[in-house]
Amino acid sequence: MPTSIEALPWDTAFFGHRVGRLRVAGGGPASRDELIRSGYDCVYVEMGVETLPHLGGWLAVGAEPVDLRVALDSPCRATPSQEGDGVTELTGWSTEDVEAAVPLAEELSRWSRFGQDPRLAPKAGALYRRWLDHAIAGRHRSLVWRDGGRVGALLTFVTEPDARIELLVVDRGRRSRGVGPRLARAFLNAAAAAGRERATVRTQLRNGAALRAYERAGFVIREVTMILHWWRP
Ligand SMILES: CC(C)(COP(=O)(O)OP(=O)(O)OC[C@H]1O[C@@H](n2cnc3c(N)ncnc32)[C@H](O)[C@@H]1OP(=O)(O)O)[C@@H](O)C(=O)NCCC(=O)NCCS
Repeated sequence: MPTSIEALPWDTAFFGHRVGRLRVAGGGPASRDELIRSGYDCVYVEMGVETLPHLGGWLAVGAEPVDLRVALDSPCRATPSQEGDGVTELTGWSTEDVEAAVPLAEELSRWSRFGQDPRLAPKAGALYRRWLDHAIAGRHRSLVWRDGGRVGALLTFVTEPDARIELLVVDRGRRSRGVGPRLARAFLNAAAAAGRERATVRTQLRNGAALRAYERAGFVIREVTMILHWWRP
């Protein structure tokens, strides 16, 4: 089983631990000795619902559940954005835009599975800052909602090779007003304009507000995956 662990060089360099990923396909879990011999410090163990009969075995070798990841998708729609909805695509970031977006991205890190694992949490904020940097550098596209000129919500995304939301966050004081769904709908329009027929996003099962916002924008849950982290004892 450990031979099917995929090395994750980016995570290894970023977190400073030897990190691998194992997508459980079936069969029982690896033994503790096999995992130790594999040489990894941390293995992300991903279990689809069909492999959950093996969950007890993975817990027995010391893997700890950190997340229930939810994958959603939606058809892309080419509807014009609403007049005055406050959403625009950001093509050049000003210093003020960056200053407003950094705390938004940092908040996102607390929701992530990295923020839930005490050994990875110290770098979770920096991880989300990296993803924000991708948007600032123009490698990911950005939609913003402005409130009095200041960025009050941000959605970053890609359309190549597939359409996918990377980050979505609304300022704490501006939630429950439909801003998140509005940004998600604007993303679906941008994806349609880029020629994509379907778009995806991932979030966590415990993130009820995100699930609600995506549902309002037309996304439907397609897959739930349990994620465990196994750490070398
Ligand atoms: C997720 C988020 C972007 C939603 O944006 P939003 O503009 O507030 O979205 P909505 O206007 O649809 O409001 C969210 C809805 O979820 C509801 N909600 C909040 N917590 C909930 C929970 N635990 N379970 C179910 N629904 C919940 C809210 O009450 C609201 O519904 P209402 O308008 O009927 O009151 C925003 O909450 C946010 O920025 N959260 C922190 C970052 C984050 O988690 N991002 C998503 C990462 S994938």
